[in-house]
Amino acid sequence: MPKLRVSCFGLSVDGYGAGPDQSRDNPLGVGGEDLHQWMFPTRAFQTLFGKEGGTTGVDDDFTARGFAGVGVWIMGRNMFGPIRGPWPDDAWKGWWGDNPPYHTPVFVLAHHPRASIAMAGGTTFHFVTDGIEAALKRATEAAEGKDVRLGGGVATIRQYLLAGLVDEVHLAIAPVLLGSGEHLFAGIDLPKLGYECSEHVPAAKATHVVLRKRE
Ligand SMILES: NC(=O)c1ccc[n+]([C@@H]2O[C@H](COP(=O)([O-])OP(=O)(O)OC[C@H]3O[C@@H](n4cnc5c(N)ncnc54)[C@H](OP(=O)(O)O)[C@@H]3O)[C@@H](O)[C@H]2O)c1
Repeated sequence: MPKLRVSCFGLSVDGYGAGPDQSRDNPLGVGGEDLHQWMFPTRAFQTLFGKEGGTTGVDDDFTARGFAGVGVWIMGRNMFGPIRGPWPDDAWKGWWGDNPPYHTPVFVLAHHPRASIAMAGGTTFHFVTDGIEAALKRATEAAEGKDVRLGGGVATIRQYLLAGLVDEVHLAIAPVLLGSGEHLFAGIDLPKLGYECSEHVPAAKATHVVLRKRE
């Protein structure tokens, strides 16, 4: 069965998935890039941006796994960019340049409508203003039997978790304290929602933990 899954989500030891004060200079919020130091050098990540080489091993395996079998992405508007409120114009097209590393349809949750944006390499951003269930329905249809990857950010993942719609969450817990920012699980009772830790693998730059719904 195709899944709705979170993969390669970087989390600080104190539970933050993004630092505070996101801006063009700090897409992950202040200090947030430290959550991904485990992933940036991996071969799978470098390949996404057309580069050769990169590290192999546990971190690379989890990065590759995160992209394998994904037919569609869902993300929140803050993961897509730093612009808040009504779109001033159509200039902002994401952080990732002309050829984003998704190569699939990407459904962006937003309260402010905007026309879809077709990018090079097969990525098309669609803006969904009628909520998480509607986004998931459209994403599942577009995924044609493949998994839907829930990219983030924090507010988006929290909504899908609380609605009981997420099948699997892979966290990469980085040895970093952020102190403030977007907290992933505050007030969410994961065992009550049916989740358990099904896998944990330590590596040099992160500890990988997979949560799955109990059968
Ligand atoms: N640690 C990681 O691995 C990781 C992964 C991905 C992203 N991130 C980071 O996480 C941060 C973003 O997370 P975030 O929690 O601030 O925001 P987010 O989940 O990316 O986006 C939240 C925004 O999306 C829109 N939205 C969300 N749910 C909606 C709904 N049900 N209906 C309509 N619109 C909805 C709203 O935008 P409007 O109301 O403005 O339209 C809302 O303010 C960024 O810094 C990003 O880089 C981290």
